[in-house]
Amino acid sequence: MDEVAVFVAVALARAVEAKDGATADHTLRVADLAVRLAQAMGMDQAGLLRVRVGALLHDVGKLAVPDRILLKPGPLTAREWAVMARHPAAGARLLRGIQSLATVRPTILHHHERWDGAGYPHGLVGDAIPVEARIVAVADAFVAMTEDRPYRPALSLTEAMRQIRRGGGAQFDPALVCVTVRIFEEAI
Ligand SMILES: [Fe+2]
Repeated sequence: MDEVAVFVAVALARAVEAKDGATADHTLRVADLAVRLAQAMGMDQAGLLRVRVGALLHDVGKLAVPDRILLKPGPLTAREWAVMARHPAAGARLLRGIQSLATVRPTILHHHERWDGAGYPHGLVGDAIPVEARIVAVADAFVAMTEDRPYRPALSLTEAMRQIRRGGGAQFDPALVCVTVRIFEEAI
């Protein structure tokens, strides 16, 4: 994987944002934070590139979700939710056969797993979840909380960090939550 992969991943991230109406550059912010977390964990250069590209592509499977579900303003029905929940596997499938992106497919497939095993698609628990996917999960949640949404204003950084902390050991890798808190405290 090389820098070309990053350019392709940025283009695909923008395609996803254009389709799902997410805040502009949401995915780029997720990728930047994910790389900072990975750096703080001591990851090597190859790992950092894997995290960046995986973060940029984590929701690429949303391209395969029908607009009537992806853009539905109200709550999803159980059947619609089931379709939505296929986006990690759909994303991994989209990249099937692209050898240079093979190492980021686990990040895409597992970015909605939870540390306690209550996530999807495979219900992986703890360290069984690839570390890149654990990093993207924390970064995506934190960035999303700090952005305005149609149904709520952005949370303050302090409140978002409080919620990330609360998710340690349940939704998120507790060690990673500690790293996130440290980065946050250094930044303020
Ligand atoms: Fe996702």
